[in-house]
Amino acid sequence: MTSEQQHQLPDDIDVFSPEAYADEAGLYRQLAHLRRNLPVSWVDRAPYRPFWLVTRNEDIKLIEKNHGIFLSAPRLTLIPEAMEAATLARYGSRTGGSRTILDMDEPEHSQYRNIAARWFIGSGLRELTPGIDAIAEKYVSRMIGMGGECDFASDIAVWYPLEVIASILGAPLEDAPYILRMTQALLAAGDPELQQDGDYGAAAFEEFAGYLGKMLAERRACPTGDLTSAIANASIDGNPIGMIEALSYVLVAITAGHDTTSAALAGGMLGFATHPEEMTKLVANPGLLRNTSNEICRWVSPIHHFMRTASEDFQLRDVTLRAGDAVALIYPSGNRDEAVFEEPDRFLIDRDTSGHVAFGYGVHACIGRQLALFELDAFFGKLIPRLSSLELTATPVPIASNFVGGYRRLPIRYAVR
Ligand code: HEM
Repeated sequence: MTSEQQHQLPDDIDVFSPEAYADEAGLYRQLAHLRRNLPVSWVDRAPYRPFWLVTRNEDIKLIEKNHGIFLSAPRLTLIPEAMEAATLARYGSRTGGSRTILDMDEPEHSQYRNIAARWFIGSGLRELTPGIDAIAEKYVSRMIGMGGECDFASDIAVWYPLEVIASILGAPLEDAPYILRMTQALLAAGDPELQQDGDYGAAAFEEFAGYLGKMLAERRACPTGDLTSAIANASIDGNPIGMIEALSYVLVAITAGHDTTSAALAGGMLGFATHPEEMTKLVANPGLLRNTSNEICRWVSPIHHFMRTASEDFQLRDVTLRAGDAVALIYPSGNRDEAVFEEPDRFLIDRDTSGHVAFGYGVHACIGRQLALFELDAFFGKLIPRLSSLELTATPVPIASNFVGGYRRLPIRYAVR
């Protein structure tokens, strides 16, 4: 019996299709079963090429730590095989026409990462915080002004982080609805309601590339001090950054920069609505705010997976991963791993959140982590003390996506103090 046969994922388990992510309770039950019984499992099921599924927190970190062995290129996310083949035929690469820093490996990856890194940490981030605070206040006031009921997902959660990242990149605010449509077509490509053309975001990519390319060309000619200008005019080894790389950089910042945070914001609201005692805790102890934002990210896990490809054989538990094998790192599973977090399914704002993998781990760990946490601090730090009650008015509808999650609908009722 081969290692693949020994570790075959049972037919009745599905924790990787977009539809599996529309049933959160079922998903987490199955992930807990896998962590206990089959932490590294082999998946050979259409429509995907085969891959190993990694569910334990410790194993996810081990693979990301060994970034010299487990490469991001050429298979970063789960895409149906037919779509990969079509992309390969069209662009000569399975990842398509873009080349983001997520797709790059060392030493190239660090060179490109450095271009934007200073915007999202330390003094770079401190310069942005007054503007972000003002945007947070605008959306908290909008919610309060809605009279006590809203669909938090579509009325607030998608717009606030989008306005933040648009302001950092210098994209016009009136283009926000367009940017949102493009992002959803690209990142929630499996969700039937959000998918644009049944082509896994290919048409959206081409259209959006035209929009971002124009922005980059304008900033190259006339820099304005925004992040797009910094990317457009960056150099690598003394040469101007390539157009594909610049385009991919802005693309990843504008999409990953808001969709993930929107998912965290909506999931955080669901956490408070279903665990009202945590609101009381936060009001009594505002010092818990940053830990709350981390707990939101752990509990929600806005990004559901990334993949790596082994460049040499590697022993992971009782499985020998062969050179060329792909592994999918299931972050929601790592974040509910009972070996790291007690009662992992509970939303507890005063738990020890260190060790969560919502932002990944190692050299590719999220560049926007501090920004995202600040956005969550700013919003919930202003909102929660103003609410005297909060409840769901209907069952939330998660986005059916195995990549970036979030909610299509999150109807809530709330009263203001
Ligand atoms: C709650 C919100 C967010 C979550 C959960 C999140 C999650 C992640 C994850 C899991 C990764 C991959 C890490 C890995 O491979 O180990 C990542 C990378 C990245 N994120 Fe985020 N992210 C969030 C917000 C943001 C924001 C606000 C930005 C702003 C630009 C951003 C930009 C990026 C970029 C550029 C990368 C690639 C980093 C690299 O490859 O070196 N993210 N993020």
